[in-house]
Amino acid sequence: MSTATGSTPDSTITEIVREKYGAAARRILASEPSGGCGPVSSCCGGAAFNGSVDPITSNLYVSGESEVLPSAAVLASLGCGNPTALAQLEPGQVVLDLGSGGGIDVLLSARRVGATGKAYGLDMTDDMLELARRNAAEAGVTNVEFLKGQIEAIPLPDASVDVIISNCVINLSGDKRRVLAEAFRVLKPGGRFAVSDVVVRGETPAAVRRSMELWVGCVAGALEESEFLRLLTDVGFVAPSIEPTRIYRSEDARTFLGEAGLDVDASIAQIDGKFMAAFVRATKPVAPAPAAKSCCGPECCP
Ligand SMILES: C[S@@+](CC[C@H](N)C(=O)[O-])C[C@H]1O[C@@H](n2cnc3c(N)ncnc32)[C@H](O)[C@@H]1O
Repeated sequence: MSTATGSTPDSTITEIVREKYGAAARRILASEPSGGCGPVSSCCGGAAFNGSVDPITSNLYVSGESEVLPSAAVLASLGCGNPTALAQLEPGQVVLDLGSGGGIDVLLSARRVGATGKAYGLDMTDDMLELARRNAAEAGVTNVEFLKGQIEAIPLPDASVDVIISNCVINLSGDKRRVLAEAFRVLKPGGRFAVSDVVVRGETPAAVRRSMELWVGCVAGALEESEFLRLLTDVGFVAPSIEPTRIYRSEDARTFLGEAGLDVDASIAQIDGKFMAAFVRATKPVAPAPAAKSCCGPECCP
């Protein structure tokens, strides 16, 4: 299977990602928020763990929104957006969060869909699932369920979900087409894909792009925005759109780019304004597109 990192097999990417987020979850479970995180990039916007203000994960949730959640859920927030704010969730809906981590967006979704709805979180990392379940119990939220599995093979039936959310996870997958096809499969007709993720706008030199992706925390690589739209359409979605929510300042990555051995000033000029967190929307059509007529009988030809 080919991957965004070229020669790295999907299974290796999966193990790197699982280890990285498992370690992050274990630090929080052990209540050691400042425990040796290493470089920021090794924790995907890891300032939540090293005490500084992170340009990727900081200030994503508006005042009053996250204060009602357990502090461990907020501390474990490793997303790059706020999908629940943009997803227009309604009471009674079934929501699925792909790569739910410590559960912050599942808990926020559960409040929005209410007792008649349900919020699922899906994650492959045992320690993250333990953290999320602990956070849900602490928050006293009961209309949630955390499932173990991979976003490339969602353990839910066809047409069982109203809204799919996700927060900075699809960029980590080595098989993004499969993730999107799975999202399409489990959505009900008319269901919505409403996801925050890192996307790249336009062409960037490979070495600079890779360093910037590592800074942002992408393991497999962020999709270029037109490629994201194309893949969504390929798997069957309609009306795909991408709305930037935070454009990363390449100046913030100065140190990282320098450590990667790149000419910092030249690199910054090449990537300025091209890396961003974005809200990605698409809809599963209510009825499948009509198949083209294969014959030309009397009813269709003049
Ligand atoms: C960047 S964190 C985001 C967590 C959460 N969405 C948030 O906003 O805090 C990525 C999470 O996705 C999970 N993850 C990454 N790749 C995955 C995959 N292919 N299948 C299932 N979970 C995955 C990781 O275990 C981790 O918990």
